[in-house]
Formats: sequence, C-alpha cells, structure tokens
Amino acid sequence: MSRAKRKIDHIHHAIQTGQHRLHGLDDIRFVHNSLPNTGVQDVHIDTKIGELLLSSPIFINAMTGGGGQETERINRSFAQIAHHGQLAMAVGSQMAAIKDEKEEQSYRVVRQENPNGIIFANLGSEATVEQAKKAVDMLEANGLQIHLNVIQELVMPEGDRDFTDALRRIERIVREVTVPVIVKEVGFGMSAQAVQKLKDVGVEIVDIGGYGGTNFSKIENERRAKHFHFFNDWGISTAASLAEVSQHVEGMSIIGSGGIQTSMDIAKSIALGASATGMAGYFLSILMKSGLEAVVEEIAELHEELTFIMAALGATSIAKLQQMPLVITGDTHSWLTQRNVS
Ligand code: FNR
Repeated sequence: MSRAKRKIDHIHHAIQTGQHRLHGLDDIRFVHNSLPNTGVQDVHIDTKIGELLLSSPIFINAMTGGGGQETERINRSFAQIAHHGQLAMAVGSQMAAIKDEKEEQSYRVVRQENPNGIIFANLGSEATVEQAKKAVDMLEANGLQIHLNVIQELVMPEGDRDFTDALRRIERIVREVTVPVIVKEVGFGMSAQAVQKLKDVGVEIVDIGGYGGTNFSKIENERRAKHFHFFNDWGISTAASLAEVSQHVEGMSIIGSGGIQTSMDIAKSIALGASATGMAGYFLSILMKSGLEAVVEEIAELHEELTFIMAALGATSIAKLQQMPLVITGDTHSWLTQRNVS
C-alpha cells in the first residue's frame, strides 16, 4: 500500500474510531472559588512553550503526513484556520516530501497560506540531522516536532521493528537544528522517566500525547487481518502523564494532548502543568463533517469558554491557571498514588 493511501486510511479510521473520553481528565476537578476577585476582561490566554510565544494555548496538532492531494487539501484548510484564529499548527510527518520532492507542495502550502504564523515541522525519530534541517527549511518552520510512535509501528504490518538509538538521533537533532525541538507521543503518553531522558539530552519541550483520544493501535488494527488487540488499551492517560511529568521533571515546557475536545479539557490540562494543548482528531473530525467555518467557530468558542473558566477560578494568566488547586479521583488518582505523585 502506498504511503499516501495509508495516510488517507488513517484519516477515515481516525474519524470513525472517534474520541471516547478515556483521557482521565474527567477524574480532575477544580475547587470552586466564590471570591475570584477578577473579571473576564482581566484574563489573558497568551502563553509560552520554550522560547516560542503563542497568542493561544490551543494549537492544531500534527495530522496528514503522506503527501498527495488529500494531504494538501487538509493542510491548506488547517493553515487557513490557524491563520484566522492566530493558532500555531503542526504538519504531519514530512518524510514523504523528504523522500520525494514532488510532494513538497502539499506541505509548503501551509506557509503560503499563513506567512507569519507559528508552524511546526514534523518527522519521526528515525530522522537524521540532514532530514530534520530539510523539514524545517521546507516550511520556514518555527519549531520541529519529532514524534515517537513505537506502538503504532509495532501494530502496522509494514511498520518498524527496531527502536534502538532514537534518543541518540534526537540528541544530535537538538544540537544541530536552530529552531526549538518538541518531542511528542502520538496517543500513548509519556512517563516521567522517558521525559527525564529527553531532558538529559537537551530537549526542552515535550508533548506528552496521552492515551484517551485518537488511538493508533485501534486504527492500525482495523486495517489488518491479524489483530494486536492487546495494544488497544495500552498507554498512559493524558491526565496521568501530565501530572507525573510536571511533578517529577523540573524545568520542561509541557504540551498536553490526547483526546482534548472541550474548553474544560484545556483548562484542566493547563492546571496539571501544560503550557499549551494540542488538538488533532477532534478538529479533523469537525473539518471533515462540517467544514472549515465550523472549525473556526469552534475555536472562537473554545477561547471564550476558557476565558470564562479562568475568570471563575481567579486565574488571569496561563501561569496562574497552572497553579490552581485540583482534586484528583478515580483511576488517575490510583495511577498517581502508585507513581508517587502527590
Ligand atoms: C496524527 N498524528 C500524527 N502525529 C505526528 O507526529 N505525525 C503525523 O504524521 C501524525 N499523523 C496523524 C494523522 C491523523 C489522521 C491523526 C488523527 C493524527 C497524531 C496527532 O498529532 C496526535 O498526537 C494524536 O492524534 C493524539 O491527539 P488527538 O487526536 O487525540 O487530539
């Protein structure tokens, strides 16, 4: 099967498989504040990941690698949405365009549509330094995402089977590439130990890409005769991953993602330690079912609602929202107790 066909399959399965709210964020409760001593007009939602300033904590996460017309069409739509809402956005894996120059236009369109926006390039951890530099140059990107997707590869019949030396390649890329590097998971979460290893080789931003949203084990299993079902509920939930990484690893910029759909999901992710939140499957599903305008409207609503939630809590900035007290129950509480997170 061609790379482009495989990626289009992903899009259709991602929408069908849907999002089942298994991210653990429903185990998190804010503590109501009857005296917030602030107003909606005082709330600011601009934020910072590493050295990058973002006007919103919401960004469009990586989708649609593979090249081809479908990739170009979706990339163009998301670039227009990002431009309109002043959101950062990531493209999907650029490996197709690194291997075949004819595919470059389906990614370059993102910069053409959004000349001054914050754009993240994207490659897997198999990438070399040269490929990483090429991916960044292709988009005049402001940052580079390196994705880690061991489980997806194992479930894919044509996937990789050897995961040695990823950390060493990441270390070289961080050293040689001039833009900030974001190491991301794709829906299986990151442990504090994995993030500590990334920090030790110089990574300053991670996207924990937690379990509970788009599920690449389920997506890949639907495409194959022999099923690896045991990976379908494998992973660290978004809530648990955010809590353990923010408590155990000092000085990292953390992005929360994995099943984020609502303004409350965004607020809770930030209160668990995230500086920004990435949304992929949810935006893709709205785009495919209802079109570009519907995504633009949804983003405006998310921004307004987030401002209201922050006003209710008395948090006038993202930094203050990160400090809000929380009560944690259910499976997330059990996980964090056993992982020594208070
Ligand atoms: C993705 N994702 C992804 N990530 C990445 O780093 N490179 C890629 O090429 C892709 N491709 C891709 C295609 C499609 C159709 C989807 C839905 C997702 C993963 C994505 O960025 C994100 O990490 C996960 O989807 C989890 O977030 P959501 O979807 O639960 O918000």
